[in-house]
Amino acid sequence: MPAYRPIQWVDGRLRLLDQRELPARVTAIDYTDYGDVADAITSMVVRGAPAIGITAAYGMALAAQQSAARTVDALRVDLAAAGDRLRRARPTAVNLTWAINRVLQRAGDVGLETVDAVRQAVLTAAHGIYALEEQSNSQIGVNALPLVPQGAKIIHHCNTGPLATGAYGTALRVIIAAHEAGKGVYAYVDETRPRLQGARLTAWELQQWGVPHSVIVDGAAAHVMRTIGVDLCVVGCDRVAANGDTANKIGTYHLAIAARAHGIPFYVVGPTSTIDMSLASGDLIEIEQRPAEEVTHVMGRQVTPDGTAAENPAFDVTPAEYITAIVTERGVVRPPFGGNLRVLMGCE
Ligand code: MRU
Repeated sequence: MPAYRPIQWVDGRLRLLDQRELPARVTAIDYTDYGDVADAITSMVVRGAPAIGITAAYGMALAAQQSAARTVDALRVDLAAAGDRLRRARPTAVNLTWAINRVLQRAGDVGLETVDAVRQAVLTAAHGIYALEEQSNSQIGVNALPLVPQGAKIIHHCNTGPLATGAYGTALRVIIAAHEAGKGVYAYVDETRPRLQGARLTAWELQQWGVPHSVIVDGAAAHVMRTIGVDLCVVGCDRVAANGDTANKIGTYHLAIAARAHGIPFYVVGPTSTIDMSLASGDLIEIEQRPAEEVTHVMGRQVTPDGTAAENPAFDVTPAEYITAIVTERGVVRPPFGGNLRVLMGCE
């Protein structure tokens, strides 16, 4: 595990590393109220699909602690309400719903006969989700290693490291694992406008792990492919539909198109908790729209003329046809994704 812990459960409190402050300040905030946890997810104190899933699960543990319910049924009603509140914090990453549903299922266990037993079960479920993501992250690194050639130059988008998953990371884990395996890789880090997850967070994490890298502006990716040469692109995912269409940080789609134009493999990397077999295609994925100020302002300073309108979709959907393979903890899935994802997810 990295020296820094983005999510911790400490003495009945949830401690989150404040990712809005990185890399300038490494500082954490403690939470005891699940509503504040929902706000922390919305305001991106914590972000990244698996990390917000784990955080929401601990938010449910706080809700169980906060509840004044005296009966098991009343506590379950409070937990359902807390789940609804936490689910609304961010709509695109399926991990949020996935984690909350797992916790609610555990809380609904007929064998739980007291309020304290339900509270304990909710906390145990949250710890279990964290442990599961940790194992997934580690196995993803192992599964992806054969895909990375010696001396590979790799473009990475957004942030998918330990900060985004609470554990070892997903797409960034691929780069770190290849580095640790002595493959001599070099990472080109998309800065990832507007929230600069690449420039601020990925560069900071690669520095912690000693991986050689350069930050590039998002618009430079195709130029780097053509002039320097890139061996592969690795990106994370917030929701993968049943046909392989993948929602991820805005800018992923155009990176995929550029990779296709240059004949470069484009890998989506994520745990199976991010695969949503209930949605037939990416057209059905809700894309979060964030405040215009994230575009009109850079680090709090306005850069557009007064009154300028801005669109700020936080994610885009890369059609499956642009994806070379989806790397998960259960294995590497290649096209045709429809059938192969069904097998991976045990749907047939
Ligand atoms: O808006 P963010 O920073 O939460 O977006 C994060 C991403 O898009 C990541 O690529 C994705 O969640 C995968 S994290 C392993």
